[in-house]
Amino acid sequence: MANFANPFVGNVPRKLTKEELIQAVRLNIGGELEAIYVYDAHVQATDDPVAKKVIADIRDEEKAHVGELMTLLKYLDPEEATHFADGEEEVKEMMEELNIKIPSETTMSKNNTENTVGSLIE
Ligand SMILES: [Fe+2]
Repeated sequence: MANFANPFVGNVPRKLTKEELIQAVRLNIGGELEAIYVYDAHVQATDDPVAKKVIADIRDEEKAHVGELMTLLKYLDPEEATHFADGEEEVKEMMEELNIKIPSETTMSKNNTENTVGSLIE
């Protein structure tokens, strides 16, 4: 969570190196996950229907931010992206072993628009 008492806490005195930018994006993802957790806790802690709806909507926007940042992280660090893909495959294999239907690609990853090098035939 932000440290509002210190207005300079988020400032960086120079441009980030690529490695530092990757670390910063990881930190950003952590912040979004924490926000999701806190908003969801507040949704669960109230029966006020308007508050539930508004806070749940904000919580879901934070989930979209995680998706944006994960996509950015994969772009910045394609090698790390291969580890994410490996983990996804491992879970799919475990689900297959348990005879659990694997969610379609559209639900696991709505926009599977990975860049390719194009056709190798042409
Ligand atoms: Fe956010």
